[in-house]
Amino acid sequence: MTTETLEARIERHFAAGSAAAGDPDSLAAFLELRAGLEAGTLRSAEPDAASPTGWRVNAWVKRGILLGFRVGQLKDMSVAGYNKPGALYGPGPQISFVDKATYPARRFAAEDGVRIVPGGSSVRSGAFVSRGVVIMPPAYINAGAYVDEGTMVDSHALVGSCAQIGKRVHLSAAAQIGGVLEPVNASPVIIEDDVLAGGNTGVYEGTIVRRRAVLAAGTMLTRGTPVYDVVNATVLRATADRPLIIPEGAVVVPGSRAITSGYGKQMGLSVYTPVIVKYRDEKTDLSTTLEDVLR
Ligand SMILES: CC(C)(COP(=O)(O)OP(=O)(O)OC[C@H]1O[C@@H](n2cnc3c(N)ncnc32)[C@H](O)[C@@H]1OP(=O)(O)O)[C@@H](O)C(=O)NCCC(=O)NCCS
Repeated sequence: MTTETLEARIERHFAAGSAAAGDPDSLAAFLELRAGLEAGTLRSAEPDAASPTGWRVNAWVKRGILLGFRVGQLKDMSVAGYNKPGALYGPGPQISFVDKATYPARRFAAEDGVRIVPGGSSVRSGAFVSRGVVIMPPAYINAGAYVDEGTMVDSHALVGSCAQIGKRVHLSAAAQIGGVLEPVNASPVIIEDDVLAGGNTGVYEGTIVRRRAVLAAGTMLTRGTPVYDVVNATVLRATADRPLIIPEGAVVVPGSRAITSGYGKQMGLSVYTPVIVKYRDEKTDLSTTLEDVLR
């Protein structure tokens, strides 16, 4: 007798639609997937030299993550509050949290080697966070995300669902890495090893940022954002079957370009555009040297 693989079980339950909600095996299959995601052995996308982008999307894993939302019932996950009515401080009404029972916040132990500095951060079940990762409060890491060794997730940073973050990445304060759960075959946002995403950067819609690239504070990248590479005199864009890809070592800063026709020109308007001003050099390394001592 052959044992049905986890992939086949997930696909079968996902195809069953709403019927999956009452089937105990669909919950069991989801919990197995979730454990694999948290251990980092299963990923929604992974490096694949044979793929044109260097990354392969595991659509079945993304379907499994969606299955978890289908099979989970809403649950009161409130925690004790210390807002005692009429007093300065003391046990009081609970602080309300309500979510799918399949996606509670993850718990960590000191042995996991992950630092979660106190103060309002949350890592959702189904996210992988490697040893040596530091999470400054408040930050949020969503289901299906993968955050590799030595990465810093700074205050107000978001790692969206299924986003893949490499080793020694610095996600600066308020960096927003968007989530891509649907469509299931769409590539999530990928930030490769040693990238610095400056403060208030936003990377969305499956954009891939190659290793050692630097996004200066305030840079925004989406599928629809053309990126002007003034070093190589070229414009980088996403296509129907390829996301926007920021090349290895590129230093991208927020810029603007004039509207050259019509009413926009008449009014002297310009639009935001990211510009690759240079490729990483010694000065960049110096500018991006971070507080290793804090890690
Ligand atoms: C990109 C960055 C790393 C600088 O890198 P660098 O290699 O030292 O860059 P340089 O100073 O050589 O600048 C190269 C060119 O880009 C321009 N530039 C640099 N940073 C820029 C920025 N943030 N916005 C617009 N232009 C910028 C410079 O003016 C220069 O152009 P010029 O030669 O025409 O004057 C730095 O600007 C940055 O954004 N760091 C991130 C800061 C941050 O968010 N920290 C968060 C801590 S929580």
